Amino acid sequence: MSRAVAVARSNIALVKYWGTREASLNLPAVGSLSLTLDGLETRTEVRWDDEAHDRFILNGAAMTGTPLARVSAVLDLVRARAGHACRARVESANNFPSAAGLASSASGFAALALAASRAAGLRLGELELSALARRGSGSAARSIYGGFVVMDRGVRNDGVDAVARPLETNLDVRMVVAVCGEGIKSTLSTDGMRHTAETSAYYQSWVTSHPQDLEMARQAVEQGDLQVLGTVMEHSCLKMHAAALAARPGILYWSGATVDGFHLVRALRGNGTDVWFTNDAGPHVKALCRPEDAERVSQALSRVAGVTRVLVCRPGMGAELIEG
Ligand code: DP6
Repeated sequence: MSRAVAVARSNIALVKYWGTREASLNLPAVGSLSLTLDGLETRTEVRWDDEAHDRFILNGAAMTGTPLARVSAVLDLVRARAGHACRARVESANNFPSAAGLASSASGFAALALAASRAAGLRLGELELSALARRGSGSAARSIYGGFVVMDRGVRNDGVDAVARPLETNLDVRMVVAVCGEGIKSTLSTDGMRHTAETSAYYQSWVTSHPQDLEMARQAVEQGDLQVLGTVMEHSCLKMHAAALAARPGILYWSGATVDGFHLVRALRGNGTDVWFTNDAGPHVKALCRPEDAERVSQALSRVAGVTRVLVCRPGMGAELIEG
């Protein structure tokens, strides 16, 4: 059987996805809007063969349990579509910390969807790839595309309209990522969003107030308005965390460095720099700013106690086939 190699980049949600409306197809309860980032890459090789089981090697280590099961579930969809029953050897490497809130599942499942389908002889269009990647991880549906991307919640039960698409814009930005400790995050986003939906008194408000944030952000991207985009981005982040914090027991992804980073970003903004923060299911702070301000924002964040390194990311490209 054949093999293929794909590269995909991570993305950071500016308007967050948090909550599913249907678990088996991984259909989101809300849409989302993201920026694909250059430099945070997963490279994935898929080789279909006649072994008895799927194998998944991540950063050189053979994975078992849930990580392997999630990969096999996407491979099952490819097998069904291609009409064969072969097993696969999947070898994946991230050039950034895995499962630490830097969205390695987004780049990982986008690269897997492309490599696995091509190696099986399928030539899926971008929307089909986005839907396939979503079955691995909701945020992965967005990493099929480069730049700014909007993910539709969709209304259909079969999920064919729960897919991402790229947005046109002339807005150029940088995402400054302040890594606040490199350990594994405490609550995986899949578990955190389910727990929030089941126990947080704020979850329904999160879902019902979400569409207006998404629409405001989408228009801001298309009109190139960073101030409106940054404002709604920070709001969406704090609102997502407010819902998670109000779960029982509350989910707290922040470290002290995270909160200090938020205050620093607001202080920079108070001094006239266009910069806004966001944060996901981990402690790291991500700051959105103009290209000419990125170095200054980066230096300021690197001085926050507990920040171990800072990356300045440009908008990145969509998933690419490297071999196969
Ligand atoms: C906070 O895409 O990791 O990063 O679909 O369960 O794999 P699953 O969730 P995942 O959740 C991402 C959550 C987030 C916000 C976002 O990226 O939109």
